[in-house]
This record gives sequence, structure tokens and C-alpha cells, in this order.
Amino acid sequence: MSFDLVIRGGTVATGADVFKADIGIRNERVVAIADRIVDGRRVIDATGKIVLPGGIDAHCHLDQSQAPGLASKGARMADGFRSGSISAAFGGTTTIVPFCVQHRGQSLTAAVADYHERAAGQTVGDYAFHLIISDPTPAVLGQELPALIRRGHTSLKVYMTYEAMQLSDRQILDVFEIARQEKAIMLIHAENHEIIGWLADRLERSGRTTPVAHAQSRPLPVEREATHRAVTLAEIAGVPLVVVHVSGGDPLEEIRRARTRGHTVLAETCPQYLLLTAQDLDQPDMLGAKVMCSPPPRDTAAQAALWRGIEDGTVDIVNSDHAPYRFDAEGKLKAGPNPSFRGIANGIPGLETRLPILFSEGVVKGRIDLPRFVALTATNNAKLYGLYPRKGTIAIGSDADIVVWDPERRTTITNDLLHHNVDYTPFEGLAIEGWPETVISRGEVIVQGGTLTGTPGRGRFLTQQTSSAWNTREIRAWI
Ligand code: URP
Ligand code: ZN
Ligand code: ZN
Ligand code: ZN
Repeated sequence: MSFDLVIRGGTVATGADVFKADIGIRNERVVAIADRIVDGRRVIDATGKIVLPGGIDAHCHLDQSQAPGLASKGARMADGFRSGSISAAFGGTTTIVPFCVQHRGQSLTAAVADYHERAAGQTVGDYAFHLIISDPTPAVLGQELPALIRRGHTSLKVYMTYEAMQLSDRQILDVFEIARQEKAIMLIHAENHEIIGWLADRLERSGRTTPVAHAQSRPLPVEREATHRAVTLAEIAGVPLVVVHVSGGDPLEEIRRARTRGHTVLAETCPQYLLLTAQDLDQPDMLGAKVMCSPPPRDTAAQAALWRGIEDGTVDIVNSDHAPYRFDAEGKLKAGPNPSFRGIANGIPGLETRLPILFSEGVVKGRIDLPRFVALTATNNAKLYGLYPRKGTIAIGSDADIVVWDPERRTTITNDLLHHNVDYTPFEGLAIEGWPETVISRGEVIVQGGTLTGTPGRGRFLTQQTSSAWNTREIRAWI
């Protein structure tokens, strides 16, 4: 048997195991895992390295057009599918799942066609989409959504806040009902829109408009209440729910309680909630805008609660929530040089730094072991979003998406090092241990020692299967 590529002598880590083995790759797939494989047309020596499944980032925003009329006046995303996927690859992420956004008044089918066009021929790794439903009209609920789910768009997202995307509880139930009928998985952005508006009005009236007021306008109870409501709605409708970007202990506690009741609720967090705090928004010269995201980073107690959730299994996935706005007049400062916090686009970049940060802060610091690291950054995303076992593991028959990871390389994160189009990183100056050395997508080396070797456009769109969240057991509904 001959192989296109052999990865020799490394320590293989999957979501379940760590073992020494050589990996044989042919026709884009893993075809052999053995003690020793001798004949490969190309051999990568992975002695002293860790061999991981390619990372999957299932929460990133690329080339998203903002709905017209927002306070942030149509700030433009700096990364599209090309630069976003390249930046991801340099950070060890070979599959991305960004969003396809339906704007109000737009047909969902048209939105999906639009994002297929934006992504086609652009990415260096593979990709799928979550569909954001912002206008659940009878046509969307009755025809378009069921047809799209059957065609392999099996993950859907709804928002409880943001003027242009927010749905009422009743509309959320309408979407959840279709998700149940068609076995889609739901993602939700859980923050209480009314409380945010009320607090933001008061802050503005008293002249508190700098970026730190952003955090003050959406404190943790805003997220706790919405998380409780979101899991309640999911229980009523009987759908599995992923609560995205959980930022602290209170919402995590709501998720634990829902699970204790027997409901399938999953939790995502992001590196920014593990490393940043609301104090990072309190900087002179609008610099705090660079770390303005929703929910906002909290405090060290919230960080500790999230790490506990990562350790005890409450947190299932760690994604970046990459939302690439530059710190300039096209991005964060679109509404002017000195805007109120309400006029600043929410979101921070992080596609490239996600794996290095979680490895360094998690594995190196002894908080999690290698299988847990792989589960959080790849395997669980693949399972939840219907891409497993093609993606998210190293197994016979899986796509050969593999990262040869140097566990000892020490780096200090600076924006110069990164490949996104954003002009800053919120993690500037962070010391990191461990970095991807060789990144392989379907058997092709796409990044090698800091150089892009894969051609953008080689990436493929992935049809999603039904989420593993539907396989586990009967999900009860109150309808
Ligand atoms: O602030 C954030 N997270 N912006 C991106 C959109 C979202 O809420 O996920
Ligand atoms: Zn499609
Ligand atoms: Zn969100
Ligand atoms: Zn997001």
C-alpha cells in the first residue's frame, strides 16, 4: 500500500485518546493508523510534536453585510471568506462555520444563495454555514426553512437582541417548532434586549458614553435572564439548543439546571471571556472599542466559573466569535471618531489565536488534557453541527485535516504575526506556549512553517448531517 502523505513519529491526540502512531493518507483521507508506516510519497517528521485533528471554528462572522439603519452605520467587516479562512488555517483551524444572515424582508433562500456566492472559490479550508433567521415569515417557516434543512443546512441561529435581528419569544418558538420537525439544531444569542435598551438610555442620558458603558449596559443578569428564557423556550418546543458565547457563571448555571431537568442544552464560550475583563474596555482614546463585544467580557470570577465549566464538562465548545471590524472609520469608528458606545460595531477578531490560546492557557497550564482540548476545539463542533466523522477526528476514512502542533514553541501574540485583515488583536502581548507548525486540509499541506502553501479557493462547501444532539435520546416537548 502506498500513501500520498505519511505523518511519522508524532503523538496523536483525538477527542478520546492520546497515542503514538504514524498516519497514512491517500486520496484526501486517513487510510492507515499504525505503529510504523514506511512508504509515503511525502513524509512529515512529527517527532516531538502533537498530531491533532484540524480545528473547527463554528462561530465566526465573515463578509457579513449589516442590516441598513443600524447605529453603527454599516461598519464593514474586514475579513471575507478568503482572508478569514487563511487566518484560521495559520492558527490550526481547517474548517469554519460562519453565518449566512437573512435580513428582514429578504427571502431566506435568497440569503443562502448570496452567502454561497460570497464564499465560493474563496476559502483555503472547508466550510459550512449556520443560517441566521431574522424574519420568520409564513413562507420562511412553511417552505424555505424546511427545504434548506433537508438540503443540509441543519444548524440555525436566532438572536434575542440587536435591533435588526432580534426575534420575539413567539417568533423564536415558531422557528424552534420547524427545527423540531426537521431535526435542526438551534443556536441562540441570549441577552435581554429590553433591559439593554433601558440601561443604555440611562447611561447616555447621564453622559456615560465611552466603551466601558457598553459593558455597563449589558451586565451578567441580562445574559442570565435571557439564557433562562432561551432554554425554557427550547424545552417547550423540544429542540436541542446551543447557547453561544456564554460569558460567566450565572448563565452557565442556567444551562446546568436545564441539563439536570433532562434537556439537551449545550454551552459555547470563547477565549475573550477566559482572558479579558470589562476593565479592558476602560481605556483612553476609544481604545476600549477594540474589546467591545456582546456579551462583554466580565471579571475574574466569571473567568474562573468558565474554566470550571470547561473542566467539568458544562462547556462543550470553544469558538472564536471572530467579528472582524478594524479600529478605523470603516469599522469600529464608522459612526465618527468619538462615537457613543451604541454606535460602535460589536465584535472582536480571534480566528487565528483560538487554538494557541486554549492550548497555552488550558493544556500547558494543566487545566485540561489533550483529548478535552481536541473535543472543545474540533470534535464536539463536528458532532453538534453534523460534520462528524468526516471532520473533527483522526480515524480511518476521515478527511485528512490534520495539524502538526509544536507544543514547545513560545510566542508572544502581536498583530503583525496574524493573517486577518483586522488592524489589531485584543490579545496583543499575550505569551503563548505551543503553535501549529504544519496544517493539512484533505491531505494537502496548506500552511507550513509560517507560509501559506494551499491555494485559496481549494476549500469545499460541506453539507451538514443531522446534529448528534438529536441522536442521543428522545427530546421531550410540551407541544
Ligand atoms: O459582539 C459580538 N459578539 N459580535 C458578533 C455578533 C454576535 O453577537 O455574535
Ligand atoms: Zn446551500
Ligand atoms: Zn452573538
Ligand atoms: Zn457571533
